Amino acid sequence: MPPNTTALIALALLAAVNAPTAAAAQAIPSAAASAIAPAIAITPVIAPAARLAATCAACHGTAGDTRGGTLPRLAGQSQQALTASLQAFKTGKRESTIMSQIAKGYTDEQIAQLAAYFAAQK
Ligand code: HEC
Repeated sequence: MPPNTTALIALALLAAVNAPTAAAAQAIPSAAASAIAPAIAITPVIAPAARLAATCAACHGTAGDTRGGTLPRLAGQSQQALTASLQAFKTGKRESTIMSQIAKGYTDEQIAQLAAYFAAQK
């Protein structure tokens, strides 16, 4: 069998395999959207703060429960104190080795979310 024939057969097979898939994919959105929508609607309520806070875990522990005393413990501090610290780092009012660089990367709203998240950890 010449190589071109093999390629043509492969293409024909691919088209045959893909045809029903494409039809099914078109059928999905309306049916699946209603099934998936509640999960999507719930996720943002819980996830964003935890997702933001995950970037702090390498240094501050998974829930701000820094052990060992080398870094300040975030868990259990008040939201107000955490917000004040992060804003002071962000604006450069408070000296730091690394935190001012990190805090500059967050909006005021994200800082509020982070502060609320760590204040809620025990
Ligand atoms: C690379 C390590 C590192 C990461 C990542 C990091 N921090 Fe820090 N954090 C520090 C260090 C070190 C300090 C002490 C101040 C300084 O020298 O920067 C500190 C101090 C703080 C303080 C002051 C606490 C106090 O009681 O004085 C807060 C609040 C804080 N970090 C929040 C965060 C948040 C929120 C994140 C994630 C967005 C984060 N940090 C990510 C290393 C880190």
